Amino acid sequence: MIRFESVRKEFGKFTAVEGLTLEIPQGEIFGLIGPNGAGKTTIIKMACGLVAPTRGRIVVADVDVQQMPEIAQQHIGYLSDIYALYDDLRVWEYLDYFANAYRMRTVEIAARIREVIGIVGLEAKEQELIHGLSRGMKQRLGLARSILHRPKVLFLDEPASGLDPKARMTLRDILQTLQRQGATILISSHILAELDGLCTSIGIMGQGKLVKSGLVAAMVKGLDTERLIQIRWIDAERDHVIAVLNRLGYSRLSNIGEGEVQLQCHGTDDEVSAVLRTLVEQGVKVVSVSEHQRTVQDVYMKVSRHGVM
Ligand SMILES: Nc1ncnc2c1ncn2[C@@H]1O[C@H](COP(=O)(O)OP(=O)(O)O)[C@@H](O)[C@H]1O
Ligand SMILES: [Mg+2]
Repeated sequence: MIRFESVRKEFGKFTAVEGLTLEIPQGEIFGLIGPNGAGKTTIIKMACGLVAPTRGRIVVADVDVQQMPEIAQQHIGYLSDIYALYDDLRVWEYLDYFANAYRMRTVEIAARIREVIGIVGLEAKEQELIHGLSRGMKQRLGLARSILHRPKVLFLDEPASGLDPKARMTLRDILQTLQRQGATILISSHILAELDGLCTSIGIMGQGKLVKSGLVAAMVKGLDTERLIQIRWIDAERDHVIAVLNRLGYSRLSNIGEGEVQLQCHGTDDEVSAVLRTLVEQGVKVVSVSEHQRTVQDVYMKVSRHGVM
């Protein structure tokens, strides 16, 4: 649905993006992660036909963005990293203004505005001045505007920055709703945690280069790191527990606290279960055993550690 072919962007002598080849299938929520200055905004602007690549080709919804920007833009919703909201307009007026700017058919405008207001959950605010909205609400209004014309592809530049955790979760819910309705979404962030649990695939950017990309599930699986198993207990001395674990051959322990320890191992489920049995046999009242689930964060850390950022 979104395809970059050997895309390069130079600003004078400075190369902001190079060798970008990437294909994002329909229905993905693709997270573009990288530090400030990595080239994320430039990539998004090129994909939206707002900045011309120096070299290469970008195709969105089967339309060559550089050759036919206006047709491509009919399929594209774009939320910029800069707020350009019109403070003295009311929510409904603002959307009406853009619906007309998008040249939507007059007969369908009111119904569509009602629909997008519902999607982003601003029903109670439709007659309020934008000026009085919270940052999270303004963000949702921007999102409502960007989906008015039912785009197949959404480009969101740092949409979660500056939002509180609750507003971020709301944003997540909205994006997942749009994904279920068939949208393909590319979302950028310099804060990885904002994207964790939301994206189906990610691309990690270094300076102007895509260092790694792929499905989150596959990347997490491919980590091949140790398992982290947290054990909590009551009524037993820490040293006793540690001694039992050491005797079983587990010496890599971390997060050691009163009544808890984290085991690092490559063991199978059978082996983990045997550890548990031994602890119980040795009189340790085990309260819980839980495994830290690997996330995008771990992939990012690994890529960063190997010095490619
Ligand atoms: N119009 C421009 N002219 C010159 N340099 C630019 C321009 N736009 C971006 N850059 C440079 O390109 C690099 C990438 O910028 P940007 O795409 O905004 O990164 P990000 O969004 O990842 O923070 C930065 O070093 C930035 O200064
Ligand atoms: Mg940016």
